[in-house]
Amino acid sequence: MHLINQQFSVTYEFSVCFTRDTFAPENMALHDLISAAGATTHKVQPVIDSQVLADHPELIDAIALYGDIHGDTIAFEEPFIVRGGEICKNDPAEVEEFLRLTQERKICRHSFVLVIGGGSVIDAMGYAATIAHRGIRLIRMPTTVLGQNDAGVGVKNAINFRNRKNYVGTFAPPYAVLNDFDFLSSLAPRDQRAGIAEAVKVSLIRDGEFFAWLESHCEQLARFEDEAVEHMIIRCAELHVRHIGTGGDPFERGSARPLDFGHWSAHRLEEISHTQFPQHELRHGEAVAIGIALDSHYARQMGFIDEETLMRIINTLHGIGFSLYHPALEQLNIPQALAGFREHLGGALCITMLTGAGSAKEVSEIDEAVMEQCVQRLRDYQ
Ligand SMILES: NC(=O)c1ccc[n+]([C@@H]2O[C@H](COP(=O)([O-])OP(=O)(O)OC[C@H]3O[C@@H](n4cnc5c(N)ncnc54)[C@H](O)[C@@H]3O)[C@@H](O)[C@H]2O)c1
Ligand SMILES: [Zn+2]
Repeated sequence: MHLINQQFSVTYEFSVCFTRDTFAPENMALHDLISAAGATTHKVQPVIDSQVLADHPELIDAIALYGDIHGDTIAFEEPFIVRGGEICKNDPAEVEEFLRLTQERKICRHSFVLVIGGGSVIDAMGYAATIAHRGIRLIRMPTTVLGQNDAGVGVKNAINFRNRKNYVGTFAPPYAVLNDFDFLSSLAPRDQRAGIAEAVKVSLIRDGEFFAWLESHCEQLARFEDEAVEHMIIRCAELHVRHIGTGGDPFERGSARPLDFGHWSAHRLEEISHTQFPQHELRHGEAVAIGIALDSHYARQMGFIDEETLMRIINTLHGIGFSLYHPALEQLNIPQALAGFREHLGGALCITMLTGAGSAKEVSEIDEAVMEQCVQRLRDYQ
C-alpha cells in the first residue's frame, strides 16, 4: 500500500457592508468593493429579482449611470431579470439561463455577479454563480430583512430538487455582501416583520444583551422604524457572521446547528401551511417565531429556563407582532418533524435548547409527550 496524506487550508474573508442608495453616483461602497480586486475595469453581471425591479423601476437606469460614472472600475452587462420568490429555486430554467448568458457574454472567474433580490433569488443565482466556471465572484445584495440579517450573509447557496428544499447546493462564501436598507421600504409589512424572528432567534442563543434590546424596542420594530430596524439587522448579521466564522463548523460537517434554533418545527409548519392552508401560508420567519415559542415552552417544562424568561420571550414575540398560533400546529406530527430535521442535519438528532435568554445547549433527545403539551400551550395564544 502507498498512502499520500493531503492537507491544506483555505482562508476566506469577505465584507458585509451596510448602506443606502447604493447606486447614487457618489456612493463609493460598490466601487470600492470591486476596485479592491485590482486596478482594472471589471465586468459585472447584475441579476435582479423581478419583484424588486417592479417596486424600484428606477434601478436599471441608476445602475447604468453608476457604471458610466465609475467606468474605470466597473463595466456592467445588461441586467438579467429573474422571477422573484421560491419559483426561481424550484424551476431550473433560471439557473440554466444564467449559465447560458454568462457563457455567451464571456463572464469569467475574474468577473463579478451582482445579485439583487430576496433570499430565494440570492440562493438560486448564488448557486448558479458558484457552479459557472466553478465559481464566479459573487456580490450579494439582499433586499429582504431575512436576506440582510441571515440568508445573505452566510456561506450557503441552493436550489430545490423534486420538492426537496435546498437539496442541490454549494458551500461557497461570497466575494462581498452589500445590504442596502432602502430596498426594505417596498416590502409588505408581513415580510418586514418576518425576518425579525431570526434576530430574536440568534439573540436568544448567543447574546442576552441584544435580546434585552429587542425586548425594549419591540414597539419601534413593530412599526418598522428605520433606526431600530438598522440596528436589529446589523447586530443580527454580525452574530450570524461571527458564528459562521468562529463556531468551528462553517461548512456544517457536524450535526450541531445552533442557528437552526426553533427551526425543526418551523420547517414542518411552513410545509404544512403551504399544502394545507394555501390561504394562510406561513412565511419562514413567521414559522420560526412559532418554533421559538414552542421550544421555549419546552425548555420551561424541562426546567432549562425559568418562567420569567419564558414570558419575556413570548411577550417580545407578541410585541413585535408575531402570531404564535397557526392551524398548521394541529397537524404537526412531532416524531415525523424531528425525523425530518435529523435527516436535514445529516447525522444524529441535535436540537438547540435555551438555558437562558442568551445561552443555549444541544440536546439529543426530545420528550415527545412534553413537546405535545407545549403545542397545546400554544393554542392559548389563538
Ligand atoms: N442560504 C441560506 O443560508 C438561507 C438561509 C435562510 C433562508 N434561505 C432561503 O431564503 C429564501 C427566502 O428568502 P426571503 O424571505 O428573502 O423571501 P423571497 O426571496 O422568497 O422573497 C419573497 C417575495 O418578496 C419579493 N421581494 C424581495 N425583495 C423585495 C423588496 N425589497 N420589495 C418588495 N418585494 C421584494 C420577492 O420577489 C418575492 O416575491 C428561502 O428559499 C430560504 O430557503 C437561505
Ligand atoms: Zn431561518
